[in-house]
Amino acid sequence: VQEISHTAVERALAWYAATLAHAPGAPFDARRAEELSHALAEGAPCDAGLFDQLLTFGRLMHRLAGKPGVPPCNVGDVIVASSRLPPIGADHRWERDTAVDAATFAKLGFASTSRGIADAQHNNREGWRSHTERCRSFIDAAADSLPGRQLAVILGVGRAFDLPLATLAQCFDHLILIDVDSESLALTEEALLRTSPRALIETRVMDLTGINRTMVATIDRLVDPSKDRATIQKQVENYVRSYRVGPGQLLNEGEHADLLVSSCVASQLAWPQRAYALAHLEKLGPVVGEAERSWSRAWFEFELRVQQDHIRACTDAGQVTVLISDVTNRLTALDESGIERATGQKVFTLGVDSLLERVPQSLRVARHGSWIWTRHGPGPGGEPGSWMEVEAVLLSGIDRRDVVS
Ligand SMILES: C[S@@+](CC[C@H](N)C(=O)[O-])C[C@H]1O[C@@H](n2cnc3c(N)ncnc32)[C@H](O)[C@@H]1O
Repeated sequence: VQEISHTAVERALAWYAATLAHAPGAPFDARRAEELSHALAEGAPCDAGLFDQLLTFGRLMHRLAGKPGVPPCNVGDVIVASSRLPPIGADHRWERDTAVDAATFAKLGFASTSRGIADAQHNNREGWRSHTERCRSFIDAAADSLPGRQLAVILGVGRAFDLPLATLAQCFDHLILIDVDSESLALTEEALLRTSPRALIETRVMDLTGINRTMVATIDRLVDPSKDRATIQKQVENYVRSYRVGPGQLLNEGEHADLLVSSCVASQLAWPQRAYALAHLEKLGPVVGEAERSWSRAWFEFELRVQQDHIRACTDAGQVTVLISDVTNRLTALDESGIERATGQKVFTLGVDSLLERVPQSLRVARHGSWIWTRHGPGPGGEPGSWMEVEAVLLSGIDRRDVVS
């Protein structure tokens, strides 16, 4: 998989050096394209500048996709290819550990996040309805297209607001529901057993990222109040930039899902650690201006890498994967006549304009959909509302292209 992305990036850089690099406004010249190619081939250490330039390149290539003569390559490919490059300035060990312990769970605030999601759904059922219907029908259609329906695995199942669990329980011999939150899992299982009493349902409490326990322990250790904020900040930034865990195994040895579903999970995996670290750091002084920019860049790189590993872990574990994610959060406010309108402010939850930019060349997109999810309205105290742009893809490995038609 890495090789496929690496080759895609190499080809794209060679094409760019021979064509676009000379055009006015090109992000870098032909010599730099060659240097980037060498850096990837030789496994040069990946500093912030190198990562950012590769990202810019991935974005550019995605925008050009489909034009005659343009080799396919996107942001997903550059992230996968750059995961082979060693980090700079940090000597941290990242070991996968998917266990969930009470202290880490509490520190990362998972229970209150789950409550927030349940409240948002409860208070805006009408707004969620069409999002729920789109998600569920996309997943149902994927299940219908499969030749085998033994095992379906649902990641980050939560309270299953978006998921057609009852129909999946009917279609598949065995369902595995996974979440970091045991309470949500228990409620979801209980509700499902009421509608599908004969279904074979298994719940697994698991940290899909495999990093939360070690990360919290490392952040606790690095944020040493006897040192100054700037020194600690640099150490934490180097630490998060050194993330190189890889996709990891989501299922037990010998298990393979006919259908794997990850719905509104990818964007959720890498922000709780950032919020936790920032809350700690800010006790030692404000993180503003240049410090804030440097902090955001480091965590952005971490976020992209964690999300990319999630995509790969899903497609490794499932014959086909339904990946649904919020992509752009369009903030809203009430205008003078009390009508909700987009403010123009956007938050890119996957760091790109489209989920398709994150699907590397080792995967095939058999179906794609997009819609708006009116998640919540503006609050009474002027808090912004949220219209989410959501995208769904049905993915399989390129070696499994005949699985879905
Ligand atoms: C936005 S919710 C999606 C809920 C679900 N798809 C639905 O239909 O309602 C994200 C879910 O991912 C879970 N989650 C977040 N981080 C996780 C992690 N590291 N490992 C496992 N589950 C995680 C949360 O507990 C939550 O239930």
